[in-house]
Amino acid sequence: MFGIIGLGAIGILLAYFLNKAGHVPYAVTRTRRDRYAIRAEGAEEAVEVVLVDKLPGSVRYSLIAVKAYDTESALGAVAGIPVVFQNGIGGLELARERLGLGIGAVVTYGVSREGGVAELRGRGEIILPEEAGELADALRAGGASVRIVRDVEPYRWLKTAVNAAINPVTALLRAKNGVVLESPHARALAEAAAREAGLVAERLGVRLPADPVEETLRVATATRENYSSMLQDVLAGRRTEVDYINGAVVSYGRRAGVEAPVNYALWLAIKALSDVQSRQL
Ligand SMILES: NC(=O)c1ccc[n+]([C@@H]2O[C@H](COP(=O)([O-])OP(=O)(O)OC[C@H]3O[C@@H](n4cnc5c(N)ncnc54)[C@H](OP(=O)(O)O)[C@@H]3O)[C@@H](O)[C@H]2O)c1
Repeated sequence: MFGIIGLGAIGILLAYFLNKAGHVPYAVTRTRRDRYAIRAEGAEEAVEVVLVDKLPGSVRYSLIAVKAYDTESALGAVAGIPVVFQNGIGGLELARERLGLGIGAVVTYGVSREGGVAELRGRGEIILPEEAGELADALRAGGASVRIVRDVEPYRWLKTAVNAAINPVTALLRAKNGVVLESPHARALAEAAAREAGLVAERLGVRLPADPVEETLRVATATRENYSSMLQDVLAGRRTEVDYINGAVVSYGRRAGVEAPVNYALWLAIKALSDVQSRQL
């Protein structure tokens, strides 16, 4: 049996795939909505879950789909093995530290959300390690594109490197992802951030599956008309995940003896932007 913690954009997408495979997952969420649904290519489908306050002991996998900064508050509801579906570095590590176990997953689908209705904006894949085989089978049976890898760590770091490059640059410039290709200055900044994140991963002994700069340019090309999640968070006055993206590159870099000055400057700039917005200066 499957449980989901956090019924936002990704939580609803996961519940949808599980529904399609014949499962109605248990779900714990913070703000309960009257209904949950997903929209894709103009059509809307209801998503079914059994809402509970804490996942029951029969749950084998707890799919954690809260923002990285909400992980701590989600851990009390976990049953079975936590599988962390988050961008950045830090949420999975916290789950492992507190609960002694945890599996990482990478999602490259693009999903937005208004209340309990998610909208699929970009098809991608879910990357899971071999030990989550039963979950991978269920998601795949529900129509998800799932890739099973021996070790998910290199994919988590590659996505973090791409996010560290595209997210803060687009949030600061208030521009679509394509700005990273169109402005040579934005591109230089993004490339430097991705390169640094790649060096940190390398020093940590993580061998990235692709060059982080090339991957950043590939993702920017594929998503050139999209607004990054960090830009959307900034515009909506919401907290960003920058501490788990650029902030994590800096802190993990320090532990590994590598400086990451571009990521540090981007982290400072996004934090300053949030300070200014929250005080409405
Ligand atoms: N959206 C995407 O396209 C996408 C793609 C790849 C990766 N990701 C990553 O996936 C993660 C989730 O993002 P998202 O876009 O799904 O965010 P989201 O739409 O904000 O959903 C997060 C959900 O978690 C709920 N929540 C927060 N704390 C909770 C708690 N303690 N217990 C239970 N529920 C709790 C939130 O409740 P409220 O409704 O009260 O806020 C919200 O419904 C992030 O790390 C993000 O970077 C997202």
